Amino acid sequence: TLDVDASKSLAKIQPTMYGIFFEDINMAADGGLYAEMIKNRSFEFADPLMGWKQPKSDRHNFNTESGIATTIKDKDRKANANYLHAIVKKEGGYELINEGFRGMGIVKDAKYNLSLAIAHAEGIKKITFEFIDKSGKVLGQTSVTPDAKDWKNYTAQLTATATEAKANLRLTFTGVGTIDMDMISLFPQETWKGRKNGLRKDLVQLLYDLKPGFLRFPGGCIVEGRTLAQRYQWKKTVGPVDQRELLINRWNEEFAHRLTPDYFQTFGLGFFEYFQVSEDIGAEPLPILSCGMACQFNTGELVPLDELEPYVQDALDLIEFANGSTQTAWGKVRADMGHPEPFNLKMIGVGNEQWGPDYIARYKIFEKAIKAKYPKMIIVSGSGPFPDGDYFAYGHDELKKLNAEIVDEHYYKPPQWFRENATRYDKYDRKGPKIFAGEYAAQSVAIASPDNKNNWECAYSEAAFMTGLERNAEVVHLTSYAPLLAHEEGWQWTPDLIWFNNLTSFGSANYYVQKLFANNKGTDLVSVKLAGKDVTGQGNLFASAVKDAKKKTLIVKLVNSDSKPQTVKLNVKGAKLASSATVTVLTSANNADENSFAEPTKISPKTQNTSVKGKPELTLAPRSVNVFEVPLQ
Ligand code: AHR
Repeated sequence: TLDVDASKSLAKIQPTMYGIFFEDINMAADGGLYAEMIKNRSFEFADPLMGWKQPKSDRHNFNTESGIATTIKDKDRKANANYLHAIVKKEGGYELINEGFRGMGIVKDAKYNLSLAIAHAEGIKKITFEFIDKSGKVLGQTSVTPDAKDWKNYTAQLTATATEAKANLRLTFTGVGTIDMDMISLFPQETWKGRKNGLRKDLVQLLYDLKPGFLRFPGGCIVEGRTLAQRYQWKKTVGPVDQRELLINRWNEEFAHRLTPDYFQTFGLGFFEYFQVSEDIGAEPLPILSCGMACQFNTGELVPLDELEPYVQDALDLIEFANGSTQTAWGKVRADMGHPEPFNLKMIGVGNEQWGPDYIARYKIFEKAIKAKYPKMIIVSGSGPFPDGDYFAYGHDELKKLNAEIVDEHYYKPPQWFRENATRYDKYDRKGPKIFAGEYAAQSVAIASPDNKNNWECAYSEAAFMTGLERNAEVVHLTSYAPLLAHEEGWQWTPDLIWFNNLTSFGSANYYVQKLFANNKGTDLVSVKLAGKDVTGQGNLFASAVKDAKKKTLIVKLVNSDSKPQTVKLNVKGAKLASSATVTVLTSANNADENSFAEPTKISPKTQNTSVKGKPELTLAPRSVNVFEVPLQ
């Protein structure tokens, strides 16, 4: 028997209880959420022509008869110094091809907006832009006619004549001569909310459907950088897109035996866009900033304490950017970007996965400065791995002494660990810092192993653990699975919540677990007891219960991790139940089952009505996650 006492609220479920963690890993931003289709549009990658091919012109083989392109660096342009200089020697003979991010996904009849800057066209009368497939077949085209000597922006539109996951964009030239080009950019006309410089609609929709309480950005390790110079600097990611300074991605390295040498951050998806998408999907923004420490797993480079001021100023300026009036310097930058209203930032994170005395010394300086100017701003602090390399919660005691408000803990552990640790927060001090379970995911093989799967065992084990997070809502205020997004052909880390390729995307089984919890988080925690005992979450049955004051319902979540069905008699006191309820079940026959591009909803929730009379008996399918919702009378 599961006894639920709905008479009193044990704790408020924070609106931020279930959120999302975004990091530009696995091509999550460029080539992913950010809908730009041209790779290296402004020729700023370490190799300035990376992503561009000149099949009929090969400098190394001295075959430059048809023409050749190179890049020129304009020393007066700080953020976007390089532009392309093409010499066309043979009309119709020279071509330049952009390969996109593992190709470009185009859909029959859909429209694509092209834009570029052109200057110094001498003898070149027209540039033709064509989608082509592997065999060179043209799948849509448009052209642009340069009509000015100096830099000028041009736009045009292509309509795809076929659907193709791996199209390229080919440029050919009418006339013979020279031409300079920059910011060659291509977006689907259909982006999230139809925005220019927009985001991929299907991916934002998946995020929106989660009803996330918060959006943490921009990471993860990319906050810190491998060196301090390579840390994420938000100020370089706002303002006009062509003036945002490119940075090598911290995941551009051989990681998990996968090398992605073409991984750079253009910052087309920058801090303004993160705030904007947070607002769009109803999530509280949660930016995390560098605390003056490069990644402790890499160089661990430290900024001296007496040189920390610019880092602290970045935090203060970010708050002004998000919340300041349009009369303030940074509030004006926000307004000029199209959002005069404040973004209403309430929380800010100082450092990611950092620990030890070096962190504490820097954290204290941030805390003092932020609280002096913005006393209500909630600060999220990081924590480190235990000396045995176990999960990240080390440093908590020190932070508690400092009255830290929220500590960010991370754990990437085997599925069994999640089932065995559903009680993790039962003993956490209710008067200590609140918890942000900021990164977690069950690892089917080993942490970040390339063989990890988003399998059903991992997903229901996370669900079992999440009942424990929920039962401890008094202390656990924010939680998020990580990483969020992964390109089928561009990932470094697995498992991931959402998988995509250039055309399509799907939520893993773990995604549906997150969705079930986030969509049914309720407003008030109520007590659950199993067979008269406090639910410990051990064994093979896990439960939590909440009331939703707005919907006037009682929601009970039950996870059966056993390979056999279990029957639970529900005994609710302190509330009068309606006679019918809904039960939503997420289950799959085998531990190894997964969703995939071929079967994207193989594991997805099914809802049905059930009658509730007296003490209803619920039969829980083997290895299942069940959400039982009943209106209160
Ligand atoms: O989620 C992948 C990485 O795992 C994050 O960047 C980092 O914070 C953690 O170690």
